[in-house]
Amino acid sequence: MGPFLVVEALWLFLPAYGANMAPVFAMRLFPHWNRPLDGGRAWRDGRPLLGPSKTWRGLVAGGLLGTLAAVGQSLAAQNVSGLSDFGYAASGSLVVPALLGLALGVGAILGDAAKSFFKRRTGRTSGRPWVPFDQLDFVVGALAAVALASVLLQTLGAASENWFAHEFLGPRWPVLLIVGLATPGLHFLVNVIGYRLKFKEVPW
Ligand code: CTP
Ligand code: MG
Repeated sequence: MGPFLVVEALWLFLPAYGANMAPVFAMRLFPHWNRPLDGGRAWRDGRPLLGPSKTWRGLVAGGLLGTLAAVGQSLAAQNVSGLSDFGYAASGSLVVPALLGLALGVGAILGDAAKSFFKRRTGRTSGRPWVPFDQLDFVVGALAAVALASVLLQTLGAASENWFAHEFLGPRWPVLLIVGLATPGLHFLVNVIGYRLKFKEVPW
C-alpha cells in the first residue's frame, strides 16, 4: 500500500467530495431556490421527513459538480499514468465519465439525504452534529450509486468493463479502506475552514 494509492483513492473520490461541498456554495449563490426534497412533509413521528436543509438545489448542484469533476479528471488523466480516467479511453466516449460522475455526485447527495432521514428519526434537528454519519453518509451513497451505474453502463454496452469493480474491488480494496479512514478527517478540516470563512453556519 504505497503512498500513490492514497492519491489514487482521493482522485477516485474527488467528484463525490466536490458534490458534497456543492450544496453549501449553491446555497450562497441561490439562497431563495430552497425547495425541500421532502416537500415540507413530516413523518408519522411528527418530525420532518428530511428537514429544510435538504433541497433540490443541493441535489442539482451536487450532480452537476460530480459530472464536471469526472469529465475534467478524465481529460486530465490522459497525461498522467496511474490515475483513473473514469472509463474514458476504454469506451472512447466522454459520456461514460460524465455518467459515472453524475452517479458519484447524485449518490453523494442522496446518501446525505438518507442520513438525514435517520437523523430526524433519532430526534436530532437539522444542523445538529451526528458523528460519524454526517462524515460518511455521502461516501456510502456515492459508492452505491456508482456501483449501480457501472453495472448498467457495462450491461448496456457503453463501457467494456465494470469501472467500479475495476477500481474498488479485488486487489484494489485498500482504496475503500483509505477513503473510509481519510474522509472524516478531511471532512472536519474542510468544514472548519468553511465555518471560518463564514460559508457555513456551524463548524461540522
Ligand atoms: N444543502 C442543500 N441541499 C442538500 C444538502 C445541503 O441545500 N441536499 C445546503 C443547505 O443549505 C444546508 C447546507 O447545505 O443547510 C449544509 O448541509 P448539511 O450539513 O448537509 O445540512 P444540515 O443542516 O446539517 O442538515 P442535516 O442535519 O439533515 O444533516
Ligand atoms: Mg450537517
